[in-house]
Amino acid sequence: MAKYLVQESGPLRGTVHISGAKNAVLPLMAASILTKEPCRIKDVPNLLDVEVMCRILRDICGTIVENEGDEYGTLLIDMGPLCKTEAERDLAIQMRASFLIMGPLLSREGKAKVYMPGGCTIGARPIDLHLKGFEAMGAEVVAKDDYVEATAPEGGLVGSRIYLDFPSVGATENIMMAAVLAKGTTYIENAAEEPEIVDLANFLNKMGAKIKGAGTDIIKIEGVESLHGATHTVIPDRIETGTFMLAAAITRGEVLIKNIVPDHVRPIASKLRECGVTVELTDEGLYVNGGDRKLVATDIKTLPYPGFPTDIQSPFMAFLTTVEGASTVKETVFENRFMHVAELNRMGAKIRTEGNRAFIQGGKQLEGTKVIATDLRAGAAMVLAALAAKGTTEVEKISHIERGYEDFVEKFRSLGASILKIED
Ligand code: UD1
Repeated sequence: MAKYLVQESGPLRGTVHISGAKNAVLPLMAASILTKEPCRIKDVPNLLDVEVMCRILRDICGTIVENEGDEYGTLLIDMGPLCKTEAERDLAIQMRASFLIMGPLLSREGKAKVYMPGGCTIGARPIDLHLKGFEAMGAEVVAKDDYVEATAPEGGLVGSRIYLDFPSVGATENIMMAAVLAKGTTYIENAAEEPEIVDLANFLNKMGAKIKGAGTDIIKIEGVESLHGATHTVIPDRIETGTFMLAAAITRGEVLIKNIVPDHVRPIASKLRECGVTVELTDEGLYVNGGDRKLVATDIKTLPYPGFPTDIQSPFMAFLTTVEGASTVKETVFENRFMHVAELNRMGAKIRTEGNRAFIQGGKQLEGTKVIATDLRAGAAMVLAALAAKGTTEVEKISHIERGYEDFVEKFRSLGASILKIED
């Protein structure tokens, strides 16, 4: 299997351009199921997960043109007549976001069958909230060992008031997509407020939906008869942005990050500033300098947006291992999202965990060794740690990283990182 060889790289310097957001584009692609007219999505990152979603949409007989009109990153998705209302098992289990086709299929075709989603192994990751939403809209849901089948009542889904026990991103998106063609009005209470939700609502509204309140904890969706095609540009990836902010910090380098939305990375910027890292918004982008001041330890607690993002927890922890003093990290969004701790400790970090809390004794010199990318973001964390570690680090299972970061190696190399991909 392919792996990365990463050498201690000294301060990274230069400019990096952020790609369209993985977590925004996958729901946008699923939303294109809601109309028989073609939709155009721009700034789509070239990622394995996007490729899997393309295959899922083609499998139900959609037509997709990649790099349409010679425009790199533009997808033309035409979900005209569909031939199936279920996603092929082998495709669906490759990523959790495959479940996002359930709401649109149920809404448009009145039924859907989806195999249990896969994706990163970060805790139990149930789908009960998605199903609770569909049931509240009148669907009959049958959950078996490895698949879920849902059928809308005669006459279609009916608008409802749905309270989410946790502001789940995926459940908010799935329910919102199911509700746009339902009869009557749906309210999602305790909805997720992530920027990707707002991006999806903007796209759906361009398609003719009537959604208000996306980005707050109550979303109101008035059902409409039908939706039409639309063109939309994906928002920049705030997690990729955070990863490069941390690349500058952990190597004590100086990086200008372009194509960003400053508000989306506010919690990451604030915590980095607390540690003494310079983070400044300039006319050209976000300037991050980790080398002009003495850095200090801090405490992190992950929360739903606008709190500190769980997807940046592991990269931030890698950085904290290099900062003198004691830091703590509390993970409140996912269970079992500390698998990178063992890998960081194998590099010489001193991290102890107790339930959902990690205690980091920072300032240890990391040493290169063989490590595993235990999930997508943990993989990025291992590469960051490797840049600051003495000698060579071998990062294995990099397919996780390539699921979610476009041109990962090329972007790091352009900043002066010594990173090589070895194909086996
Ligand atoms: C999305 C992101 C992922 C990010 C996460 C949290 C995509 C493709 N992925 O994942 O990168 O880490 O948001 O910001 O956008 N939960 C339930 N029942 C449910 C659904 C979720 O209990 O039906 C729980 C989960 O187990 C987890 C928490 O809610 O503990 C958050 O999950 P959720 O917000 O749904 O994450 P995803 O949408 O899967």
